[in-house]
Amino acid sequence: MNKRYNIKEVAEIFKIPANKLRFYEKKGLLKPKRGENNYRYYSEDDFIRIQTILMYRTLNLSVEDISDLLANSEKANVLDHFYKQWEAVNNSIHRMRDVKNSLEKIMDSIYDGNNDGVMEGIIKSAQELNSIQETRENWKDKWNFDSWAKSYDKSVKNEVGTLNLYRKYDELLDTVYLKASEGLKQSDSILDIGVGTGNLSNRFLEKGYSVTGVDQSREMMNVAKNKYPNLKLRLGEFLKLPFDNGSFECIVSTYAFHHLNDEEKKLAIKEMMRVLTAEGTIVIGDMMFKDEESRREIFDRYTKEQIEEIEDEYYSDISVLREEFIKYGKTVDVQRIDELIYVVHVY
Ligand SMILES: C[S@@+](CC[C@H](N)C(=O)[O-])C[C@H]1O[C@@H](n2cnc3c(N)ncnc32)[C@H](O)[C@@H]1O
Repeated sequence: MNKRYNIKEVAEIFKIPANKLRFYEKKGLLKPKRGENNYRYYSEDDFIRIQTILMYRTLNLSVEDISDLLANSEKANVLDHFYKQWEAVNNSIHRMRDVKNSLEKIMDSIYDGNNDGVMEGIIKSAQELNSIQETRENWKDKWNFDSWAKSYDKSVKNEVGTLNLYRKYDELLDTVYLKASEGLKQSDSILDIGVGTGNLSNRFLEKGYSVTGVDQSREMMNVAKNKYPNLKLRLGEFLKLPFDNGSFECIVSTYAFHHLNDEEKKLAIKEMMRVLTAEGTIVIGDMMFKDEESRREIFDRYTKEQIEEIEDEYYSDISVLREEFIKYGKTVDVQRIDELIYVVHVY
């Protein structure tokens, strides 16, 4: 591009006010050359920058984020900015879906109820909406999985903590894979929640299945992507799965579900049922107790240190999980792998 364009011409080409170009210049995003009479002239490089800035603005990136991106266009930095956008859009979809469900309940209660019932219905729906949104928003990674990512694969081969819970790591992952692949068609879509470094997903990839991994830890996903370039990965959480309804025939998860407390688990089950097809199956391999009685019996035998380790997380009560899945019309089978490690098969 030999011709140099002045500010009026550039504004006309990009259909933006000339003031916007001056504003981006003031913020350091553009640096057009000055010609005779101190007029601005825009080169080919400036055109590319303007096009990039405008594209990022349509994605709602702040001027500060764009400036950061233009200064440092390394892959990790660019990905980070898009992840920010992805999270914002996904959060907003979940909030809107919750509000829509709540409105539906209110409208149904107005149709169905007498006048007294209407107020009660509205209050109940508003309370439910608040409580769901609070649960969804409040989950935090208090274990800092990003910092564990690089050493994770090595540490599962050794003793972890006082309970040695990864002693049968491979057996657990193999069992989950075998249970999940029963009756699975090659064309079926599989979701691995809390994919970590991708070890479970890879068992499906090796057999030619299409699998998507989701995790809240970017560092874990980076390790997974380096190991398995064919693995499709998405940033997301159990409580805010970034997928449409009925997207997967099968959901699997290992060593991840115990990072949710009882209330969060119920919401996670609701989320899994939402993204699962009607006939879909779920296989969860994780730390669990058979029921409250067996938890008490185990606590009686264990040392203080071991109990503290258990209480740092939220091991499931299988009887409670079973009850919850039954509400969705599902059947639950359970297989014990180790004292505290079970595979729960939901179909
Ligand atoms: C102990 S690792 C297990 C990784 C892998 N599934 C495996 O079996 O090796 C737990 C993983 O679950 C992820 N995780 C924990 N809570 C999560 C949540 N609420 N939503 C999404 N991922 C979560 C963590 O970031 C971490 O990568």
